[in-house]
Parts: sequence; structure tokens; C-alpha cells
Amino acid sequence: MSELNNIALNILKNGKGILAADESTATMSKRLDSVNVASTPENRLLFRETLFSSSSMTECIGGVILYDETIKQETSKKSKIPELISKMGSLPGIKVDTGAKILAGSPEEKITEGLDGLRERLKEYYKLGAKFTKWRGVYNISKNYPSKLSIHSNAHALARYSALVQECNMVPIVEPEVLMDGDHSAEECYEKTSEVIKKCFEELILHKVNLKGILLKPNMILAGINYKEKISNEEVAKLTLDCLKNSVPEEVPGIAFLSGGQSEIEATENLNLINKYNNTNFIMSYSYGRALQQSALKFWSKDLKNIEGTQKVFNHRAKMNSLAAQGKWSKDLEI
Ligand code: 13P
Repeated sequence: MSELNNIALNILKNGKGILAADESTATMSKRLDSVNVASTPENRLLFRETLFSSSSMTECIGGVILYDETIKQETSKKSKIPELISKMGSLPGIKVDTGAKILAGSPEEKITEGLDGLRERLKEYYKLGAKFTKWRGVYNISKNYPSKLSIHSNAHALARYSALVQECNMVPIVEPEVLMDGDHSAEECYEKTSEVIKKCFEELILHKVNLKGILLKPNMILAGINYKEKISNEEVAKLTLDCLKNSVPEEVPGIAFLSGGQSEIEATENLNLINKYNNTNFIMSYSYGRALQQSALKFWSKDLKNIEGTQKVFNHRAKMNSLAAQGKWSKDLEI
């Protein structure tokens, strides 16, 4: 079991974080459409291979979350994607949920599916080289939501998933994402996030999950995107730290935030402040999708053959987030 703790710590050590490149084909197609690139298996592979062979993989990216299609693809040099990631000094991981579906009994909410046949799929991913996994539960905030039903059923699924993943000797990333859509205040986000996370740990403990061998991937505490005023980054950092300190058991080795729709700079700045004020024993790092890839994707879309230029853009973003994970980032480094 200490082996799982070592994997978790290795992923986030020395300012390293996670590259979430596990967009489903449907989501990746939307991202590619937005920059007018055709969503073919070849293009999806080319963009991802470009990121995975960047120099920042060695220093700044401790783990990469892959999608089923990518973990089985071969690079242009005919090696498997997990081999490329390991060769670069990072660890391959895999998204194993099969997506959020309408929750029976509360049709405006979602329940994440994928438990059927999961043990068999995990064995296959382990053989392909995966060292960790991801499962995302998703919750929206409004007057009556998230409901007790959604909080309970998603926590139950996250716990059953985590127990199966540890049985297969991999580290489960537990991702309960409280969305930033809506007009709620940061205080409401704090309250709901706290309730959601506490329930997850109650279920994880019930399912005998070793908390030293997981990573938590939460949202930061933000006001809804349609909230009447903007709150400061300092406030975001302090509320986030306070919320996690009060809801996450001390055994958990690390926390890696999702970016959730924040801009690249916002996600970096908030992470930096979280680390500046960090009064917990948790490593606080990143597991960003959009906030690590957006600029690189935009740059690449202008000339799909410009691998070096794309890697430069990606390396910069990865470096900025790695500094933020150590509380060493400042705005003047962005120019
Ligand atoms: P974002 O950082 O774009 O929110 O993606 C992280 C992720 O993996 C969501 O499941």
C-alpha cells in the first residue's frame, strides 16, 4: 500500500502537476472545432503527442490523464503513448468513468457511470502501463441543488471506483467537481463543496479505501460565473484553503485542482496564492485540462506542423503552473 502513496507523491513532487488530456472524443472534437481543425484520430494524436514529447514533461508534469483512444495509440516513432510518457519522466494515467448521465429521481442532475465491468477494464489499463486513474462526479449549484441524492450517489460511485482501482494497484484520482456555472456566491460554493467532499470521504472510508493512496481533484472555491460581483483572487485562495482544511482527512497526500473554465492566468494566479497561504500539510497542485492546453491548441491550429512552436507555448504554461504550485509565480513572468 505504501507503493500507492509513493506513486501519488511522485506525481505531485517538486512543483509537478497533472496534465488532464483525457477529453472524450466528443469533447475533444468540440475543442478542435473551436479552432477549425478536423477531429480525426490522426489530429487528436498529433496534438497530444506534441504535448507529451515537450521538455516540460520532465520537470513540470508528473502525470498525464489519457482517454481510452489515446492510451492505445502509437506515436509517430512507433512506441505506445504510455511508453512515451514514461520515457519523458512522467506517469501515464487513464480516465475510467464513462461519463455523467441523467440521475434517475432528480433529472436535472447527473450521476457518473462506468462501474459495470470496471475491474476487467482496470486490469487491461494496468497492463497498458497506467499507474493512476480518474473518475469525475459533477454537481451543479442552484437553490435546490446539489440534492442529497446526487451528493450521496456520486460519492458512492467514487468510493466503489476507488476501491476497485486500489485493488488493481493504481492510484485513484477522486474528482468531485462542483461547477462554476450559475449565479451563486463563493460562500454557497464553499458550503456545497464542503458537503460534497465530506460525503465522498465518508463513503471512501466505508469502502475501505486507503486514503494515503489517493489524490483529490477538487474545484477551487469560486463565485458562479453569473454572480453579481467579482471576488478577489486572495479571497478565492483563502476560502479554498479553509474549505479543504475542514473537509479533507490529513492522510490524503495531495490535492490537484481542476481549472473548471477559469482562464489560464486566473487558474495559475489562484493556485499561486493557494500555495502562498497554504497552512495545511497537503501538497496543492494542478490537474488542468483547458488551463494547460488552450494557448498551445490555438497556436498549433494555425500550423499543424509547427511542433516546436507549439511545445514552446505549452512549456511556458506548464512552467508557470509549476511555479504556482510552489508559490513562486508572478505576473511579470508571463510576458
Ligand atoms: P479542466 O481543467 O479543463 O476543468 O479539466 C480538468 C478535468 O480533468 C475535468 O475532468
